Amino acid sequence: MTILVTGVAGFIGAQVAEALLARGEQVTGVDNLNAYYSPALKAARLSRLENHSGFSFRKLDLASPGALDDIADPADITHILHFAAQAGVRFSMDAPRAFIQSNLTGHLEVLEYARRLPALKHLVYASSSSVYGRNTDMPFRETDRTDLPGSFYAVTKRSAELMSESHAHLYGLPQTGLRFFTVYGPWGRPDMACFRFAEAIADRRPVPLYSGEGLQRDFTYIADVVQAVLGVMDQIPAVHQARVLNVGYGKPALVSRFLELLGQELGEEPLVELRERPAADVIATWASTEALRTLTGWTPETGPEAGIAQFVKWFRQWRTDHPPE
Ligand code: UGA
Repeated sequence: MTILVTGVAGFIGAQVAEALLARGEQVTGVDNLNAYYSPALKAARLSRLENHSGFSFRKLDLASPGALDDIADPADITHILHFAAQAGVRFSMDAPRAFIQSNLTGHLEVLEYARRLPALKHLVYASSSSVYGRNTDMPFRETDRTDLPGSFYAVTKRSAELMSESHAHLYGLPQTGLRFFTVYGPWGRPDMACFRFAEAIADRRPVPLYSGEGLQRDFTYIADVVQAVLGVMDQIPAVHQARVLNVGYGKPALVSRFLELLGQELGEEPLVELRERPAADVIATWASTEALRTLTGWTPETGPEAGIAQFVKWFRQWRTDHPPE
């Protein structure tokens, strides 16, 4: 039994792979190691995985047709955990083509590859809370409408869900799309608020806080997300079923409050520079977690105070080992 993890050098992929290796699984990881953000951070995440004997890695770009063909022992692959994507809600306004390439073409290539794997039982892939777009009825439930995207990123994530839906219908592979809500914590992404705010505070630069009454996110701690993925992976849907599930803390926080907590943990009063909210950023997100709880018993354990404390501990060490230039 081998688990194929795409985007294995990414924030979520690396920590899921690590948890799988810790429970004794064989993991084949792939990643294109692109330079969307610090390749050093991706390399550091990867080097932690390379300490495990059950891990093998291939650098490849999923969106190139046939890129997955050379992976060793495809007949042993029982699960695919597909996290590789072009992430970044706001970046999709600058570089929409990158999102088509990774999130649509890449997703299609994974689906096409999956059809050829004789032992494959379940494809689990990363979707996003952004598919709820400009909906205002909260908390967001999986049955809510998803036809008011706020960003092109959301369009590609919702489109990938629809691709999976049709693929499951046509070819029978059970699939689960996980709609992650603003995941944060150690080894996080430098383009996201948590890391970005912490860097600005540590450098004593003004923090770019997007203005807007009630700007809030259902910030979800990475270790809870890892537990959700492991729980879902083992709950295989029926043949021909493609389901989607929210993975969110279930209690949103004001972004300004999140920043305040970060400042407290870093021991600095943040300097704030209010900026206009980018049109791609929705005002609020809030997950209903009922469906996931019913399926797996998952309850997130880490609130913002504890999660930020863990993040800051890691962040201080990261900055010591990799001082800003
Ligand atoms: C995040 C991820 O970047 C997406 O990949 C993911 O799919 C998405 O969560 C999701 O929930 O589906 P986002 O919620 O924008 O997107 O996460 P952050 O970049 O951490 O931003 C959090 C909040 O801080 C947002 O309200 C944003 O408007 C705000 N923010 C962000 C600022 O005020 N200033 C910044 O410089 C950056």
